[in-house]
Amino acid sequence: MQKKIYFGFILTLFIVIFVPVYWATEPGRQASALKHQQTETRERGAEVYSSQCAVCHGSNGTGGIGPALKGTQLDARTMVKITGRGIAGTAMPPWSNEEGGTLAKYQVEDVVNFVLNWDDNLLAEGEAAHGSPPPSAHAPTPVSTPPPVATTAPDPAQKPPAGSTPVPVPQQTPASTPPPATSTLPDGKVLYTKNCSACHGPNRQGIPNFAPAVTSAALAKLSDVAVGDKILGGVPGTAMPPFRGKLSPIEVEGLVRFLKDATP
Ligand code: HEC
Ligand code: HEC
Repeated sequence: MQKKIYFGFILTLFIVIFVPVYWATEPGRQASALKHQQTETRERGAEVYSSQCAVCHGSNGTGGIGPALKGTQLDARTMVKITGRGIAGTAMPPWSNEEGGTLAKYQVEDVVNFVLNWDDNLLAEGEAAHGSPPPSAHAPTPVSTPPPVATTAPDPAQKPPAGSTPVPVPQQTPASTPPPATSTLPDGKVLYTKNCSACHGPNRQGIPNFAPAVTSAALAKLSDVAVGDKILGGVPGTAMPPFRGKLSPIEVEGLVRFLKDATP
């Protein structure tokens, strides 16, 4: 009898102590899981921002061709709507897949989530993952140091792609070095999507009132060299940034071939 009472007492004590403690920590656990999830969407959002938006809204979000987004007064719903649909008649393109853009719905939400919870550290990580966006104003133009190479493109200073015989690849090259054989050219389409499509459109058709088409037809009057010069030097006084120091000569050659040869 004594023992039973004692046991019952212990059990009660256990319930009285354990249950509230459990209740108290459970919301904490949920909150931390939620927080973890939010950090992930913001990380993805930072990557989208630096690869897709920084070119116009500034690599620090302080504005460029488009207005500053860091510290925006817009609410999340409005941001998602504008980002998804774009702003007709301006350089702000529609981004969501439904509107013909390149971002899935969750990516639009991610980037908005990032913008509204701006974090320069996440952005630095995103940039590291994607290479810095093309027209950042602080770009140095080194000739002798290897320019940042698109993560998606083969690095000309390294081994040639598997399968091809090892052609001696020029070391980081003064602009006059003859381009290597066509087979080792980096994929111009990949480079285009990464560096140019934000302004010249995903299909190279241009963006009305902002940037011209750069299809082979549109560029027919320009020589290969002239196209390469525009890419390297930009068009001063316009939004067309210089890519010298950001793209290597062989990457520019790959782009020129893509612009001039690919249909349409
Ligand atoms: C090619 C240039 C360009 C790119 C790339 C671009 N934007 Fe824009 N964006 C603009 C311009 C220009 C405006 C202002 C349009 C106007 O005149 O109202 C703008 C406006 C906006 C606005 C409204 C801001 C306000 O205060 O009214 C939001 C939000 C926005 N952009 C989000 C984004 C996001 C997110 C991305 C990347 C996914 C992006 N933009 C990429 C050019 C761009
Ligand atoms: C921030 C926006 C922006 C980006 C990014 C950009 N361009 Fe441009 N580009 C322009 C604008 C604006 C012009 C028109 C300049 C002018 O008025 O002559 C232009 C002009 C050009 C022209 C000359 C077209 C002609 O008919 O004279 C070429 C070629 C070109 N861009 C290629 C590229 C390539 C290749 C890339 C990527 C490596 C690129 N651009 C990235 C905005 C951009």
